[in-house]
Amino acid sequence: MQLKDDIFFCAPPRTLMGIGVRHRLGPLLAHLGYRKGLLVTDTFFSQDSNWVDDYLKDAQSAGLETVVYDKGHADPTTALCDSATAELQAQLAGIDHIVALGGGSNIDLAKALCLTLKSGRPISSYVHDTAKPFDAIDLIAIPTTAGTGSEATPGTILVDAANATKVAVMDNSLRPKIAVIDPEYTFYCPKRVTGDAGIDALTHAIESFITEDSFLFARGTDPDPGYSGRHHLSKIYAKEAIALCGRYLEAVYEDGANQEARVGMAYASYYAALSYGSSGLNAVHGIAYAVAGLTHKSHGSTNAVMLPYVLDALIETRSDDLLQIAELLGLRGTPETVVLEVSKRVRDIVRHLDIPTNLADFGIHFDQLDTLLADAVQVRRLFDAFPVADKHQAYQKIILNAWHGRLASDPKK
Ligand SMILES: NC(=O)c1ccc[n+]([C@@H]2O[C@H](COP(=O)([O-])OP(=O)(O)OC[C@H]3O[C@@H](n4cnc5c(N)ncnc54)[C@H](O)[C@@H]3O)[C@@H](O)[C@H]2O)c1
Repeated sequence: MQLKDDIFFCAPPRTLMGIGVRHRLGPLLAHLGYRKGLLVTDTFFSQDSNWVDDYLKDAQSAGLETVVYDKGHADPTTALCDSATAELQAQLAGIDHIVALGGGSNIDLAKALCLTLKSGRPISSYVHDTAKPFDAIDLIAIPTTAGTGSEATPGTILVDAANATKVAVMDNSLRPKIAVIDPEYTFYCPKRVTGDAGIDALTHAIESFITEDSFLFARGTDPDPGYSGRHHLSKIYAKEAIALCGRYLEAVYEDGANQEARVGMAYASYYAALSYGSSGLNAVHGIAYAVAGLTHKSHGSTNAVMLPYVLDALIETRSDDLLQIAELLGLRGTPETVVLEVSKRVRDIVRHLDIPTNLADFGIHFDQLDTLLADAVQVRRLFDAFPVADKHQAYQKIILNAWHGRLASDPKK
């Protein structure tokens, strides 16, 4: 426990986790009284795998009617959500649940549809809507990457052509009612997706572990906050996730057939989500969204390129936490040296995953750094949760160090 904690913890009410648990979902949905659902997925799952057929068989045996929508794609847009809403509305009378099958992209699209299929409104109209809780269709999330943790979070993140960074719609009504973590879905996940999703999980675990404390977090007057700072409970999950990533992330990237590593990363991803899904995130994601806006590279890789430099900026304000992370990652040495080693070890992991370790190699030009800073600072909910006194100056320094690929522990040139 921590004396000053002010915990608000919110997680999916039901979690099914383990190899083969997907077959328990149909009977559970029927038992809970659901009758008609929409399955949101993409063509990999409907055409190149038998997982959609598998799901439909289980659902049908349980007496459920299911409509399939398979036009999801990586990094879904607000336009995709709105066109899917127009296309689907006529077929969905009596719908009482939506099932998302896929990576974070399909889960985010499904979350958005939980709102728009009910109201008929464009999804962008929810971005600044404060009339919460939103009226949303119940969501069941089945992640196939290990990963994003979107199956445990209150937000959907969509690309909006009108914005440089992605837009987010957040409300606890979007948190899935059931999370189904069946590691078997990830067994044949392509190497690139495995690496990018895996570093996303490590980022969630570390970033939520070092984020603003619950008793200092600016949650305003919101009685039902989506995110509200770190606390003892979120840190339990974060620590377990960091240790699992330390053991299995590079191993699963090296050898996707390593089933122990696949299962380990599925657990790590969900535990990380149980941490950040309540505590929230800060500078890594805040700057990464802006990097994605300029480069259009994957979510996991944009986090990866920033993570070491954000950790380096916290050597003073979060030294005790960095010591714990060092221990969880198996680093040995004196407290003074080991604190400096954490960002270096994380950068080695990023390199091992074949992701560029500095912003220049990532495709950002030096003259874009001011734009990057301005875009990153605008994501206020993440900026405000960065636990340093002068946040603007810290962001500036992090971005510059990330561009040069410069860590405090590097030999001076
Ligand atoms: N809402 C949230 O809380 C949250 C959190 C983090 C990330 N995200 C979002 O998640 C997205 C990234 O998700 P992702 O990393 O899971 O990848 P993804 O969902 O974008 O999928 C990438 C590709 O991998 C394929 N794929 C997925 N699982 C597979 C499997 N098991 N086997 C074979 N192919 C598979 C997909 O078909 C797709 O083509 C980003 O858009 C990001 O913004 C959302």
